[in-house]
Amino acid sequence: MLRVAVLISGGGSNLRALLEASADAGYPAHVVAVGADREASGLAHAEEFGIPSFVVPWRGAGEREAWGAELDAQLAAWQPDLVVLSGLMRLLPPASVRRWSGRLLNTHPAFLPEFPGAHGVRDALQSGVRETGASIILVDDGVDTGPVIVQERVPILPGDDEHALSERIKLVERRLLIDVVRRISTGELDLTAVR
Ligand code: GAR
Repeated sequence: MLRVAVLISGGGSNLRALLEASADAGYPAHVVAVGADREASGLAHAEEFGIPSFVVPWRGAGEREAWGAELDAQLAAWQPDLVVLSGLMRLLPPASVRRWSGRLLNTHPAFLPEFPGAHGVRDALQSGVRETGASIILVDDGVDTGPVIVQERVPILPGDDEHALSERIKLVERRLLIDVVRRISTGELDLTAVR
């Protein structure tokens, strides 16, 4: 059973989808802990599913290294095989990226390398393109620059606002995330081969 830790900042709807999937006895991964950089509302999903959670409050960019070290210590206590950044809206310091390298995943609401950063949905809408996407990547030291594990296009529809488009992208992200974690767990997907 693959041990998965998930880090969030917000509502955690993708986290919830993973928790629902892993509640199925046939699913080969288990969420062992959920962490956040603030008292995120999504932590309630962990509580509902009986999964332990922790908060390492963000204290500003000047404290990034110390914050990351504390986060690493909390994560390490759960011995995760995989760490999933699922809407964590903070950049991990390089030491944390190195520590979890090769087993650190990020979900991003755009078809990377298009529209990296904190406003992937808004940036796609403002650019006037007709389609964007959803990506799951391995995290490296850059901002959404790591190798793509899987990605899928999502059309931008007339009348879409940021919320509507974000919700439609998340439907795709959830499916991709659940499938990627399953395939990693079964050995069908070898992350060392992703580059
Ligand atoms: C997701 O769309 C995720 O890809 C995005 O935040 C959302 C979290 O939603 N992450 C980023 O934009 C990271 N740059 P959720 O809290 O409802 O799961």
